[in-house]
Parts: sequence; structure tokens; C-alpha cells
Amino acid sequence: MFNDLKNKVAVVTGSSKGIGQSIAERFGQEKMSIVVNYYSDRLGAEKTVELIKAAGGRAVTVHADVNTESGVQSLLKSAIDNFGKLDIWVNNAGIENRVATHEMTLEEWQKVINVNLTGVFLGSKTALDYFVKNNVQGNIINMSSVHEQIPWPGFSHYAASKGGVKLFNETIAMEYADKGIRVNAIGPGAINTPINAEKFADKEQLKDTLEMVPMKRIGDPEDVAAAAAWLASNQSSYVTGITLFIDGGMTLYPSFQYGKG
Ligand code: BGC
Repeated sequence: MFNDLKNKVAVVTGSSKGIGQSIAERFGQEKMSIVVNYYSDRLGAEKTVELIKAAGGRAVTVHADVNTESGVQSLLKSAIDNFGKLDIWVNNAGIENRVATHEMTLEEWQKVINVNLTGVFLGSKTALDYFVKNNVQGNIINMSSVHEQIPWPGFSHYAASKGGVKLFNETIAMEYADKGIRVNAIGPGAINTPINAEKFADKEQLKDTLEMVPMKRIGDPEDVAAAAAWLASNQSSYVTGITLFIDGGMTLYPSFQYGKG
């Protein structure tokens, strides 16, 4: 637990399931107040609120499309109306789908870029504007991926969006560092979440993935949530502009494991 997080107010986008839900629950354990954002899964968002309340935090749900200005504005407004302020903004919402690049439609490309990259821009802009105008030494956490670094055939739109998140994250971290605003990213590897449920239910695909993880296990959303809590807390007060990989070593060139090469 990180004592300074108590009574902090956070927006967590895409927190109706998966990593976002786990971060929101962890923030609840830290006795924080959380705006739980969802796009399509209202029941999931309500479940997140239950988890937060059971853990001792406060929470409200807000339906919003993070790819629109009005959507992200409604998240900020909810934080202020319900909890009086904003301290932490987590740009977590993200999507992916497999499609060969030569068959990818412009719509498919734009959909992934819009949520994963433009959504991160709009969320960050909204939080930064609030932090600057109100003199808040706020904190932004952007959900990236091991694929900000590792190419991923079949997912070129996704990899491009995460590569974009990496440099956007570093750039705004530098741009606002002298105001005491910290901006960091998290790069999850293979994590047990609904986005991966089908893939990891298939024995062959699970085996293939585990071969790429030196620690030989799939990560849990709680592993990512713990990183988010640390990055949000003052325990990481001298850290800005990094991507913290939570990946069991996936970014370490796993094919060299056991001395190959
Ligand atoms: C993706 C997962 C994938 C993992 C490792 C993540 O960014 O969301 O679907 O399993 O990267 O490839």
C-alpha cells in the first residue's frame, strides 16, 4: 500500500474489465476515489465499482468514448463534480484485432489508432490542461505494450499505436516535467485478461506464448495494477517518461534463453 494515495482522485479509462478493472480495484484498496469509464460494457463497469467499494474506495461509472473531446471532458467533469478534484489520469482503454496489413481496411486502421493513440492524446490533454490551470502536480499513466518495442505481424495498426504512445509519453513527460507533473507508461506483456482469453484457452497458442516469456507464466492483471499504483504514488517521485515493462522478460530477446545464439 502507498499511504500518499489515500483520498486521491483518479480517472481510469476502459476500466470495465481486464487491466483497467484491476487498476481501478487496486486504487480502491488504496482508498482512492475513481471514475470508472466504460464504452460498451456497463455491467463490467458496475462490477468494478462493487470491487472498489468492497475494498474501501469510492467510485462512479461514466459512459464515454475516449476518442472524442466531449467523452474525455465528461470524465474530468465527473471527477470534479463527484470528488472535487483530479490527481491521476490513467489512459488504459485499448483494442486490438488480427488482420494482415494488405487486407486491413482504412476503418480498421483508424479504429485502433483512434482508441489506442488519439484516446491517449485526448485523455492526456484534458488532464494536463486541468493540472496546469489548477497548479496540480498531477500524474498521468499511459497503457502501452511490449509492442511499443517488439514488432507484431498481423497487428501493424496496434504496434503503430503503441509505438506512438511511447514517444508521445516521453515527449509530454519532458514537456511538463518542470511543473512537477509526471507522465509514465506501462508496457504489459502477455496478461490473463478478456482480450487474450480466447488465445490462452487454446493450448497451442498458450504454449507458443509461454515460449516467448522467460519466466514461463502468463501475467496477472494485478501485476500490472501494482505497477500503476507505484507509478501513481510518491514512491516513484523521481520517475518520469519511462515505460515500465510488466512482461516476465518478454522484451529480453527470449529466443536467446538457455544460451542459444
Ligand atoms: C497484447 C496481447 C499480447 C501481448 C504479447 C499485448 O500488448 O494486448 O494480446 O498477448 O501484447 O504479445
